[in-house]
Amino acid sequence: MKVSVIGTGHVGLITGATFAERGNDVLCVDVDRKRIRALQKLAMPFHEPGLRELVVRNSKAGRLRFGGTNADAVAFGQVVFICVPTPPQADGHADMTFVENVSRDIAAALQDYRVIVDKSTVPVLTGERVKMVITRYARKNVAFDVASSPEFLREGSAIEDTLNPDRVVFGVESARAEKVLRELYHNFKAPIVVTDIKSAELIKHASNSFLSMKISYANALAAVCELSGADVQQVTRGMGLDRRIGAAFLSAGIGYGGSCFPKDVSAFEAISRELGYDFRLISEVKSVNVEARERFLKKVQEELWIVKGKTLAALGLSFKPNTDDCRESVAIEIVKRLLSMGARVRAYDPAAIPTAREILGKSVTYCRSAYDAARGADAALVLTEWKEFADLDLAKLKRALAQPVVLDGRNLFDPAKMREMGFIYRSVGRP
Ligand code: UDX
Repeated sequence: MKVSVIGTGHVGLITGATFAERGNDVLCVDVDRKRIRALQKLAMPFHEPGLRELVVRNSKAGRLRFGGTNADAVAFGQVVFICVPTPPQADGHADMTFVENVSRDIAAALQDYRVIVDKSTVPVLTGERVKMVITRYARKNVAFDVASSPEFLREGSAIEDTLNPDRVVFGVESARAEKVLRELYHNFKAPIVVTDIKSAELIKHASNSFLSMKISYANALAAVCELSGADVQQVTRGMGLDRRIGAAFLSAGIGYGGSCFPKDVSAFEAISRELGYDFRLISEVKSVNVEARERFLKKVQEELWIVKGKTLAALGLSFKPNTDDCRESVAIEIVKRLLSMGARVRAYDPAAIPTAREILGKSVTYCRSAYDAARGADAALVLTEWKEFADLDLAKLKRALAQPVVLDGRNLFDPAKMREMGFIYRSVGRP
């Protein structure tokens, strides 16, 4: 099928590349000309394992093209995916300006029947708005359908998540749109959930908020474990084996970050309130998340006494491993707080130094390795659970540090082994 994708961010670029991989003819457009020029030269705008290979293979096979306007996208694809940002506003609501602008461009360019599918994460009732905008601004009286197909990919495993998803959701309001989308997804092995548009929109916010709730639950549990002397990893392992609960997303740590969870939880809270429901459970998920980083910072203060003037090694800057994405990274927030307390920070991340530099500038010393960051430091702080850190030569790390203090915000190491090696070691929710 001919497929157009508007927006080449994490969702758009991966949507385009994977539909091409599944044998479709794909055109990706973006207003960021620099990004498009780079993609035409097969340079990736962000770090995502396997993406470059996928883009190279499908571009060379002629199934994946970059460039053009939103009008070109409408002319090209039978299905047009909207994959533009919906950033958070100060009051928590998602800013829908880009979605509206794209909808107007689509309206102006519409000549024949198209299925316009929203893949950006949007609040419930957006589909109605998109339909209203297209109807209002269309130059001709052309039939079209609006649909919603939320994306569930995770950064770092985005390709696998998209090619082999747990489920594909699409919300439609006509049999014609359903038929087109079923055909597009015919060679995906995943179960297909067809709903009305509003329900599809809600599935996305509800899923991300639920996952955030699991993480906050684990972090609240970690607090009780610390007070009682129990071990949160043992507790969550015991819980997770119950298939009704599941083991995933129960890792306690410094809290969730990234471009999705914080934004989506706030947007879900905001749209619920606007509709007349105070979703208190969600509000509590947010406060427990902030509490998690505060409890970690308290441990740093407890171990160092005076933070001012101390040198700290920050291991990890990205919001999670296998990505260079530092948006809403709790690691970055913690580094900022330590700097404001007067600490000197030596930071290392396997992928995210260039992106972290855009946020932290020259306020920290960027290092070549975890050992380099630890050199002469009063403590090492594990802030992102990169495998590279789990595999560190701990004796070497100890030799590099001025003081053998490790504060592990991601529960990467075995407490007994760390103490046996002579480290002063604190982690999250474990004795
Ligand atoms: C998330 C959703 O998982 C995905 O379905 C959606 O499409 C986009 O948002 P992503 O933001 O890429 O994906 O990262 P994810 O792997 O979900 O992690 C989010 C945050 O939660 C990270 O900061 C991670 O460190 C944290 N986390 C995750 C925990 O603290 N504990 C856990 O058990 C799991």
